[in-house]
Amino acid sequence: MQSPASVILVCVAGIVGLIIWCYDWNRAGPKYDLKFNSSSVEGTAKVFITAEELQRMMESEEGVTLLDARNQESAIARGLSPDWPEKIPGAYIARWKDFVVPGTRDTLLPVSELERRFRERGVCNSVPVVVYGSWTEAWGEEGRIFWQLDWLNHKQAYILYGGIYAWTDISCKRCGRRGPGDFAAHPVDSRLINADKIVKTTNSKSDSLLLLDVRTEAEYTGAHPYGAKRGGHIPAAVSYEWKNVFISDGSGNLKNQTQLRAELKELGLKDGMSIAAYCTGGIRSGFMYSVLRWLGYKNIANYAGSWWDWAGRTYLPISAQVQPSFIGKGIEAT
Ligand SMILES: *[C@@H]1O[C@H](CO)[C@@H](O)[C@H](O)[C@H]1NC(C)=O
Ligand SMILES: *[C@@H]1O[C@H](CO)[C@@H](O)[C@H](O)[C@H]1NC(C)=O
Repeated sequence: MQSPASVILVCVAGIVGLIIWCYDWNRAGPKYDLKFNSSSVEGTAKVFITAEELQRMMESEEGVTLLDARNQESAIARGLSPDWPEKIPGAYIARWKDFVVPGTRDTLLPVSELERRFRERGVCNSVPVVVYGSWTEAWGEEGRIFWQLDWLNHKQAYILYGGIYAWTDISCKRCGRRGPGDFAAHPVDSRLINADKIVKTTNSKSDSLLLLDVRTEAEYTGAHPYGAKRGGHIPAAVSYEWKNVFISDGSGNLKNQTQLRAELKELGLKDGMSIAAYCTGGIRSGFMYSVLRWLGYKNIANYAGSWWDWAGRTYLPISAQVQPSFIGKGIEAT
């Protein structure tokens, strides 16, 4: 028989091993081979910029406001990787949760408050803003913040291609601009969709809107409700997981525009249709929105409240292919 002391010793050794493994894994990061040339895709909207372009913006007279959109709120995650989520010098923290009503996860703050929070982070209408996140490694947080700026009609908002991992071997003298913000928000209503608008649009003209569910297949079918009130999807939605925008070779590169347009056509996109995306909380769909903007589509929207909002409105219909395999709090998806 094993003594209790040896059982405890084995457990402690296991936990220590796990912590070391997580620490190493966090520090390593993905091995991207980023290739992006924004001047070769001229003619579409400029959304993504390279680290070299960012460096040039920093050195320009007006400078650049940098927003770090990564979630680093878990003390464990921070403790395990003290040097990993290093900020780019001069960046302000801008997490999606900083812009929702406290105590909720699916309700955006009023526009005047969003404006104030961007001003606190140095955002000005006349200065470019570059948002960065963890690219393929998280939930597309940089896309959500980009979408907020685009919806509020900031005309010079960009995303760093490759996220924090693109900022290697690069130094800056001026770095991110620090200074007071004067951002004046002028929301473009069509860029934000909600449950009522989806119901109206899909009831009146069935082929005027391509509605993309960018969660995983398991979430779409209802097998994994991730703590939402109901599992499944909006009846009019087609499934297209947001990570499909990346080439699946681990290089971290986006598929080219020809390919992405062809995939959207296959999902039912026709000329003149608008496109809206949703996920669990409007974060992954924010990234999808940024890709759609880059592709040059004009009528695009993000459903900020997404599945948390839709599933909670129990009077709204849902489609589900399977019964949830388990119901519980689960891992929080966004
Ligand atoms: C980017 O593309 C443009 C236009 O196709 C080309 O002239 C330029 O040399 C390319 N730059 C790089 C760094 O590949
Ligand atoms: C885009 O990607 C597809 C699939 O990888 C490839 O077949 C095609 O040649 C690419 N087109 C351009 C213009 O790079």
